Amino acid sequence: MRLTAIQTDDVGQRFSSAATTYDRHADVQDRVAADLMRWIGRTPPGPKTSPDRILEIGCGTGRLTVRLAGRFATSQLTAIDLSAAMVNVARQKLPDDHSATLIPGDLRDFDAPPFDLVTSASAIHWILPIDNAFAAVDRLTIPGGRVVMAWMIEGTLGELHNARLRMVPDKPPQSALPAWPQCLDAIERTGWTVHRTDQRTYPTRHRSAMHLLRAIHDQGLTGGPFSRAQTPLSRGELAAVMRDYQQRHGQDDDTVSASYVVGFVDATKPA
Ligand SMILES: C[S@@+](CC[C@H](N)C(=O)[O-])C[C@H]1O[C@@H](n2cnc3c(N)ncnc32)[C@H](O)[C@@H]1O
Repeated sequence: MRLTAIQTDDVGQRFSSAATTYDRHADVQDRVAADLMRWIGRTPPGPKTSPDRILEIGCGTGRLTVRLAGRFATSQLTAIDLSAAMVNVARQKLPDDHSATLIPGDLRDFDAPPFDLVTSASAIHWILPIDNAFAAVDRLTIPGGRVVMAWMIEGTLGELHNARLRMVPDKPPQSALPAWPQCLDAIERTGWTVHRTDQRTYPTRHRSAMHLLRAIHDQGLTGGPFSRAQTPLSRGELAAVMRDYQQRHGQDDDTVSASYVVGFVDATKPA
C-alpha cells in the first residue's frame, strides 16, 4: 500500500542533519530557484508588481530567500522552514541590514495575516497530499494575491526509482511524489485564476551511481518517505540497484545521468 501522509518531525530532522551539506549538492534546486525568480518577474495583470508582504515556504538554506530579498528590497519578506538548522544557514546568507523574518516552523500550523505574494521552491511536495499544501497556501494568500511556486513531481530521480523497482520489486518506497495531472487537478480545486503552469525536466550528471546516492543523501532526501521501504534494503540489494543504475545510465564520459522533474504554477487568488 502506498502511504501519502508524511511525518513532518522526520522530514525536519533529516533536513536539519543535511543543513551543512545541502548547498554542496543542490544544483538543481538552485536552477529551479533562478527559474522561479523569472516566473515571479513576469507579473500577470492584476497583482501588484511590488508586493508589500511576501511569504516564502520551505526556505531551506535560502537559495530563493536571498534572491527575493535582493529583488524586493522594500517588501516585507517572511520565510518559514520546518528545519531550524536550515533556517540558521539561510539567515547567515542575508545581508546584515536585511529586514526579512525567518521562522522555524511547520507551514500547516503557521498563522499570520495573509500575504500579497506566496512563493516556494522545491519544497511543497513534502506536504502531501498536495491539496493540503495548496490549502495552506490559499489560507495565507490575500484575495487578489499571487501564488508562484515550483515543486518536485513524479519522474524526479525516476531512473533510480525504476532501478530499484527492477532489482528489489518487493520493497517499494512508502510514498510517491505527486504526478503532474494530479497537481493540475489539485490546482483547479483551489479556485485560483491560473496564469501559467509548466513542468520542466532538469538533467544532472554524477561521477557514478554511488556519487548520485551520496548527493541525494547530503541533500537530506534519503531515509525519507520517497525512498524508505517498510523493510530497509540490504547492502546486497543496494549494491544490485547501483550496478543496474551504472549499467543503464552510465554515459560515454564515465558519468551517470539523473533527472528531476519540476512543476510550476503562477496563479492569483480571486479577489
Ligand atoms: C529541498 S528543501 C528546498 C529548500 C529551498 N527552498 C531551496 O530551494 O533550496 C525543502 C525544504 O522544505 C522544508 N519543509 C518541508 N516540509 C515543510 C513544512 N511542512 N513546513 C515548512 N517547511 C517544510 C524542509 O525543511 C526543507 O528545508
